[in-house]
Amino acid sequence: MESTLVLLKPDAVRRKLCGEILSRFERKGFTLTALKLLRLTPAMAASHYQEHSGKPFYPALIDFITASPVVAMVLTGPDAIKLVRAMMGPTNPVAAPPGTIRGDYATVMSENIIHGSDSPASAQREIAIYFSEQELI
Ligand code: GTP
Ligand code: MG
Repeated sequence: MESTLVLLKPDAVRRKLCGEILSRFERKGFTLTALKLLRLTPAMAASHYQEHSGKPFYPALIDFITASPVVAMVLTGPDAIKLVRAMMGPTNPVAAPPGTIRGDYATVMSENIIHGSDSPASAQREIAIYFSEQELI
């Protein structure tokens, strides 16, 4: 059993796509083990995206992710990290096939709807940014 941190980014919340996206994960069979709506502080955003610090797109990425609320959740199930990434599709929606979340709902890399942890180490680190031990059900 594995857990992964998923964010429905500000564009997903603004466009009222949260229910549709959450529904995909429920139908797939994942268990929801934590869920909240929140607006990221600059410090949370910097911690979340620390691997991208210094890259040309980093300032715009931090501005985007802190601009308005996100939905954060922990999904749990067998191979959750890889399966969620497969359902999301590639980072660039231009490369994301129809049927994936980014392929169905996004057009540009800077507003690509969803985040999912990319490794067990990332998942552990990222879950701790958003949820306390008591909030993981
Ligand atoms: P996340 O789930 O958001 O972490 O996406 P990812 O794991 O598919 O991609 P990555 O971690 O490499 O990049 C994080 C985010 O930065 C992406 O979701 C994009 O929004 C943005 N990003 C990454 N690379 C580029 C780039 O070359 N140009 C632009 N404009 N944005 C980028
Ligand atoms: Mg990433």
